[in-house]
Amino acid sequence: MLTYPFAWPSPVDQPAELTGLHDEPAVPVTLPSGDTALLITRYEDIRALLTNPHVSKNRNRPGVARMTADNSRAFQRQVAMDPPEHTRMRRLVGKAFSANRIEPFRPRIQAIADELLDQMAAAPQPADLNAMLSYPLTIRMICELLGVPADERDNFADPAKPPWGYMRDLIERKRADPADDLISALILVHDAEDGSLSDEELLWWSTVLLLAGYDTSASQLSGSVVLLLSHPDQLALLRADPALVPGAVEELLRYQVVGASLTMLRYVTEDIEVGGVLVPKGSSVIPALESANFDPAAFECPARFDIERGGRQQLTFGTGRHFCVGAPLARAELQIAIASLLERFPGLRLAVPVDALRRKDDAFFQTFTSVPVVWS
Ligand code: HEM
Repeated sequence: MLTYPFAWPSPVDQPAELTGLHDEPAVPVTLPSGDTALLITRYEDIRALLTNPHVSKNRNRPGVARMTADNSRAFQRQVAMDPPEHTRMRRLVGKAFSANRIEPFRPRIQAIADELLDQMAAAPQPADLNAMLSYPLTIRMICELLGVPADERDNFADPAKPPWGYMRDLIERKRADPADDLISALILVHDAEDGSLSDEELLWWSTVLLLAGYDTSASQLSGSVVLLLSHPDQLALLRADPALVPGAVEELLRYQVVGASLTMLRYVTEDIEVGGVLVPKGSSVIPALESANFDPAAFECPARFDIERGGRQQLTFGTGRHFCVGAPLARAELQIAIASLLERFPGLRLAVPVDALRRKDDAFFQTFTSVPVVWS
C-alpha cells in the first residue's frame, strides 16, 4: 500500500506517485499514524466530494483515521465543522472578512514588501528569502489585518503551540476597545438570521486566521521563487511581461501545493460514490489537492510548468464550504511580492544548486527550511 504524504524526489520535482495515480479514483493509503484512508485522486471527484452533504469535516468523532500518531493537528475544540453550524459561522466570517477588506490592503502589502526588499538589498549575500521576505511579510500582514500589536507577535511564534490564551486576552481587549481590524469586526458582526459568533467560535476563528494566515503563504512564496529560479525560460517570460504575474501565481499554486493534503481529511457519514466506486459509510478520505492539480483530465501535460497555461482553476485553496477564507489575501501577497522581488533584483539567483535546498521533514508542511539567494 502507498504511504501518504508522498516524498519529493528532489526539492522541485513532484512526487513520482502523482503520475498514474488518476487511474484509480480512490486509492488506499497508510497515513503517518499507521491508520488507513482512501486518497481521492481526480479533479472532478474532489470537487464533488468537497460539496457532498455526506462528507464531514468533524474530526472529533470516533472512528476517524488519525493523521499522525499524536494526532496533534486534529483537535477542533467544540466548534462545529459541518453544516448548518459551520455555514452560519462562515456567513458571519464572510461579512467581516471579504475580498473588499483585502483590496484597500494592497498598498500596505506593497509598502511592507518594498521595505523588506530595501533591507534585503542592504544585507550581506547570500540572504535567506524565508527570513528576509516571506515570513516577515506574511506575519506582518496577518497581524495588521487582525489587529495584533507589533510587540506581541512572539506570543504565537511556534505554530505547533496554538496561542489560545493569548488570543482570548486579545479578544477581551478588542471588545473593550474596538478598532478598525478584523478581530473587532468579528466581535461586532451580527446578522438577524445568523446572530453573532459565540465566545468559543470567536476564539476559534481568530486563532485559525492567525495561524493559517502566514505559514502557508510564506511557504508558498518561497517555494514559488525557487520554482521560478529553477525554470529560467518561465522566469524570462515573466520578467519580460509583468502582466503575466496573476496567471503565473495561479500556475505556481497549481504546481506546488506546499502543505500535504493530510489536513483535508474527511469522514464519510453515508455510503457515497466516487468516480463510480462505492465508498462506504465510515471511511476516512483524503481529497488530495496536489493530485487534483496533476489530473491530466483537467490540465493538459500537468507535469509541465507553464505560467501562461490559464484554463481550469487549481484546487490549492480547496473548494466547497471550507474554501480558504484567506485566498484573496494570499493571492495579493504572492502577486505583489513576486512582482516586486523580480523588479528589484534583476540578477536574482539561488546561492546553491537547487538539489542542495532542504525541505522540512514534516507530514503537514513540505516547505523549504531556507532559501539562500544572491544577486548582482
Ligand atoms: C498560499 C496560502 C494558502 C493556502 C495554500 C491555503 C489553503 C487552504 C485550504 C486547502 C483550505 C481548505 C481546508 C479544508 O477544506 O479542509 C483552507 C482553509 C482555510 N484557510 Fe487557507 N490557505 C492559504 C492562506 C490562508 C490565509 C492567508 C488565511 C488567513 C487570512 C487562511 C485562512 C484559512 C481559514 C480560516 C480556513 C478554514 C475555512 C473553513 O474551514 O471554513 N488561509 N486554506
